[in-house]
Amino acid sequence: MGRNVVVTGGGTGIGLATARRFAQNGDDVTIVGRRREVLVEAATELGPRVRPIACDLADPDAVESLLGDLPSRVDVLVNNAGSREIGVGAGPHAVVARWRGDFERNVLTAVLLTECVRDRLTPGSGRVVTVSSIAALRGAGSYGAAKAALHAWNHSLAAQLGPSGITANIVAPGTVAGTEFFGGRLDEAEAVRRSGRTLVGRIGVPDDVAAAVCFLASPDAGYLTGEILNVNGGELLGR
Ligand SMILES: NC(=O)c1ccc[n+]([C@@H]2O[C@H](COP(=O)([O-])OP(=O)(O)OC[C@H]3O[C@@H](n4cnc5c(N)ncnc54)[C@H](OP(=O)(O)O)[C@@H]3O)[C@@H](O)[C@H]2O)c1
Repeated sequence: MGRNVVVTGGGTGIGLATARRFAQNGDDVTIVGRRREVLVEAATELGPRVRPIACDLADPDAVESLLGDLPSRVDVLVNNAGSREIGVGAGPHAVVARWRGDFERNVLTAVLLTECVRDRLTPGSGRVVTVSSIAALRGAGSYGAAKAALHAWNHSLAAQLGPSGITANIVAPGTVAGTEFFGGRLDEAEAVRRSGRTLVGRIGVPDDVAAAVCFLASPDAGYLTGEILNVNGGELLGR
């Protein structure tokens, strides 16, 4: 029987590649993001097993409304939604906007939905996989700090869910091209520069990360919880 999978940010980039893998595996996949048209286009491409639902996952009212549309049993929750605030400015308002924005888009999106569906996670086999970033491990202002907060949160989540046989893990990607993350700022020269920082001589593609997410979500990964899996081509070595 196919599993019920929820992938946040599943309309683009890493989330889209992840949703595609689950759908190809025969799972029923709900993809969530803010832009309905992007989600509908993705679901049309991925086929009838994929259901698009628009929701701002940083908005508690929107998440509350979303709950009625989600499956009553969730086998896999992939907290992938997130982005980096590219705000400039040093005044107090700019600083607050940048830090609050990065916290809301990267931390609240994951924490809110997970807290709201935790009672629906399947005992004995449920999986939570959250996408953080290499930025959490080597620093990158408010974005890196927000992603690092996910690591601390995941430690306690794994401890809370472990007795029910549910795992909670993090995937921390390095640079991944072919997503909306860089908004056009990852040009050829920057891609070459970043490739040179890896051990394998290339930056990542969304499917590199999707493969890691799907492994952590698989039945084979049941003895792996509270971990941070780096997917960065050797740019930053495991610690
Ligand atoms: N690309 C990289 O180099 C890289 C490296 C390390 C980590 N990451 C992380 O990987 C994850 C996926 O990013 P990506 O590279 O695939 O970029 P992306 O294409 O921009 O994907 C981010 C997705 O998150 C959704 N999203 C953002 N805020 C949301 C909100 N408040 N509510 C619901 N959905 C929201 C976006 O859809 P809407 O805009 O329609 O809401 C979008 O589909 C992110 O958490 C990112 O921080 C990326």
